Amino acid sequence: MERTIIAGLFIVLTASVSPQVFAQEDAIEKRQKAMKGNSADVKAIKGAVESKDYATVETKAKDIMGTADKIPSLFPKGSDKGKTKATAAIWEKSDEFAKQAKNLSKASGELAAAAKSKDDAAVAAKFKAVGEVCSSCHKEFRADKYSE
Ligand code: HEC
Repeated sequence: MERTIIAGLFIVLTASVSPQVFAQEDAIEKRQKAMKGNSADVKAIKGAVESKDYATVETKAKDIMGTADKIPSLFPKGSDKGKTKATAAIWEKSDEFAKQAKNLSKASGELAAAAKSKDDAAVAAKFKAVGEVCSSCHKEFRADKYSE
């Protein structure tokens, strides 16, 4: 009888713990994929700025903007365990983190607008601004090394 209860308890415990762990790993993978997408977009924009392919600049800038709007939700509370560079500050200073995400949304939106109006100087300035937001957020909220 006792054995059955213990076994039952064990099943209940493992069943309630492991989905949480999987959910965390999913969240980490999902946001790292989104961030890699940001990087790919920045690279594509760099080439497109050089060749003055402003249609591509606009599309990729809008793509970054879409990702930026999702950043806060890509970092759910508790998703700090696993192969991640996310630091505790993300959840301790969540307002500041959300502000950085907003800054990226704003900067990439302005880059898209500059590309649409084919304004060389504005495109260069706004592209620089986008890169600065990436670095600024990473400096404040991203660790140099993965946690494991
Ligand atoms: C609001 C903050 C914030 C902004 C803005 C931001 N990042 Fe990140 N980025 C992070 C954090 C935090 C991580 C660590 C995520 C993790 O390891 O779980 C990260 C990780 C990354 C990674 C590594 C992904 C991996 O597989 O480990 C790349 C590449 C990256 N960011 C590129 C960019 C680029 C390019 C931009 C700008 C267009 C950008 N990020 C904007 C916070 C931000």
